[in-house]
Amino acid sequence: MAKRQLVVVLLVVVALFEGSRAVSVCDISEDGLAACKPSVTKPDPVEPPSVDCCKAVSGANFTCLCSYKNSYLLPYLGIDPDLAMALPSKCNLSTPVPSC
Ligand SMILES: *[C@@H]1O[C@H](CO)[C@@H](O)[C@H](O)[C@H]1NC(C)=O
Ligand SMILES: *[C@@H]1O[C@H](CO)[C@@H](O)[C@H](O)[C@H]1NC(C)=O
Repeated sequence: MAKRQLVVVLLVVVALFEGSRAVSVCDISEDGLAACKPSVTKPDPVEPPSVDCCKAVSGANFTCLCSYKNSYLLPYLGIDPDLAMALPSKCNLSTPVPSC
């Protein structure tokens, strides 16, 4: 019984996580993530990032991305944290990126 409840709880957590992922991560929309993905994926990141990606990056919360840097979330989404942190400069944006 306890085991079964745990499974249900896990499923709910996964569902919530998947749900929020579909909306946005750190103020980057799902579309923005999709547009940036080729540019933040190793080993052959696309440069320069697409216009849509740069648009998304200009509104992104990098403080928030920093906090995910060592989590499993970014790799799970196929995002290389170092490449992600380099996006503003690749987009010629003056967005300050916190060192993390
Ligand atoms: C960015 O994210 C951090 C951590 O999640 C949060 O504390 C901060 O308020 C956010 N900043 C903006 C401008 O949304
Ligand atoms: C950023 O500026 C450099 C040098 O001016 C240019 O070569 C590059 O294409 C620009 N990148 C973007 C994404 O606009």
